[in-house]
Amino acid sequence: MASLGMTTQWTILLLLVPAVVATSDVHHTMDLMLRKTARLAKRQSRNMTIPLGDYFNGTDLQWFGNITVGTPPQTFSVVFDTGSGGLEIPSTACGAACAKQRQFDASASSTFVDLGTTSTEVFGTCIGVTPVVGSDCSLTLRAVADTVSVAGIDVSLAGFSLITNQTAGFTDDPFDGILGLPTSGDFATTLPSGSQFFTFFLTPATEGHAALTFASIDDTKFTGSLTFAPLATPASSAWRLSSSGIFVNGQTAPQLNAERTVIFDTGTSNVLLDNATATAIHSLISPDIKPFAPLPGTFGIPCSEVAGLPANIDIAFTDEDGAPFNLTIPSDELSLGPFEQDPTICQTLINV
Ligand SMILES: *[C@@H]1O[C@H](CO)[C@@H](O)[C@H](O)[C@H]1NC(C)=O
Ligand SMILES: *[C@@H]1O[C@H](CO)[C@@H](O)[C@H](O)[C@H]1NC(C)=O
Ligand SMILES: *[C@@H]1O[C@H](CO)[C@@H](O)[C@H](O)[C@H]1NC(C)=O
Ligand SMILES: *[C@@H]1O[C@H](CO)[C@@H](O)[C@H](O)[C@H]1NC(C)=O
Ligand SMILES: *[C@@H]1O[C@H](CO)[C@@H](O)[C@H](O)[C@H]1NC(C)=O
Ligand SMILES: *[C@@H]1O[C@H](CO)[C@@H](O)[C@H](O)[C@H]1NC(C)=O
Repeated sequence: MASLGMTTQWTILLLLVPAVVATSDVHHTMDLMLRKTARLAKRQSRNMTIPLGDYFNGTDLQWFGNITVGTPPQTFSVVFDTGSGGLEIPSTACGAACAKQRQFDASASSTFVDLGTTSTEVFGTCIGVTPVVGSDCSLTLRAVADTVSVAGIDVSLAGFSLITNQTAGFTDDPFDGILGLPTSGDFATTLPSGSQFFTFFLTPATEGHAALTFASIDDTKFTGSLTFAPLATPASSAWRLSSSGIFVNGQTAPQLNAERTVIFDTGTSNVLLDNATATAIHSLISPDIKPFAPLPGTFGIPCSEVAGLPANIDIAFTDEDGAPFNLTIPSDELSLGPFEQDPTICQTLINV
């Protein structure tokens, strides 16, 4: 859910580099999200785990969990979004535009401070896997401060934003707000040195038990050893790694065999690529994958062809010791399910 509005840096990232945001790469994502300091971490006596609910609508779309804001605490569910910064939750001032979300009542919090400035934030995606056109995903915000508690980490006078209006793209959100977890300045940085990191366990709805844990690693949640990879340079607020190339079923193509920067964004539901790269990947899977005209930016394949179609996508990275490793999106992630406009055609995981 990369934010496009407030920091021009994000605009550049989203437009120029492919953002890989897979619902499929969960176990690898968890490894990669860890900072190197993870190794030094001792198990915390406090259990800083937030159970995550899964927004499933034909496919796994988004994971969200509860935080509290204000004194006494008011509870909100938020998407923990490595693709944006800041915290945004609906205000009672949002009224009907936020009717499906819980709304923060500032007058009920004794620690609330209104900072008085307003702004608009435009995101590159809102919910689901339908491409965003223009500023479909836009929030009107008021800068405020109050006590915010995330996984038992209390931050008093934390600056955040109240949503006072939102575009229709956000109306049906099954969660209330968005909490950004950028590479610096997130809630983990309020933790003691050596434990300033977080891990995501993003499982499919059928499996359940998804969770976000701060400051510790639950080694019952994975097998093998962790891979530590350096962030791409120059540093940015996005979790970016450099990839040396993409393979599809073991094959590559000139468009794919190239250096690119990949953003790991827990707030976006599918994989966003530039058109040429998406086309090159799809042509190595099946000539029957075609742009789906009713929804520009999406691709479809006859659903009858999906089962058994090999569509193994390897994205190659290099770890901190210079050793190559792949993040693999397996074949069974190719289809997101049938399009509403034509249920015989299934949507692929890639949008442009
Ligand atoms: C930590 O809390 C989570 C969520 O409440 C729970 O699922 C998990 O079992 C707890 N872990 C430990 C070690 O207590
Ligand atoms: C968030 O808290 C509400 C109660 O306020 C609870 O019903 C809901 O299940 C919680 N959501 C998650 C994802 O834990
Ligand atoms: C689920 O997806 C369908 C088809 O894309 C859409 O029409 C519907 O609004 C979605 N439901 C929710 C609760 O988001
Ligand atoms: C809220 O935003 C919508 C556009 O999404 C706009 O039509 C409406 O006028 C706005 N409402 C207010 C109170 O600004
Ligand atoms: C990554 O995948 C490619 C294509 O499938 C393969 O040739 C390569 O050996 C893999 N790299 C590693 C480190 O497994
Ligand atoms: C992608 O490229 C193809 C062929 O060059 C073109 O027909 C199509 O309109 C492009 N799609 C988008 C969404 O730009």
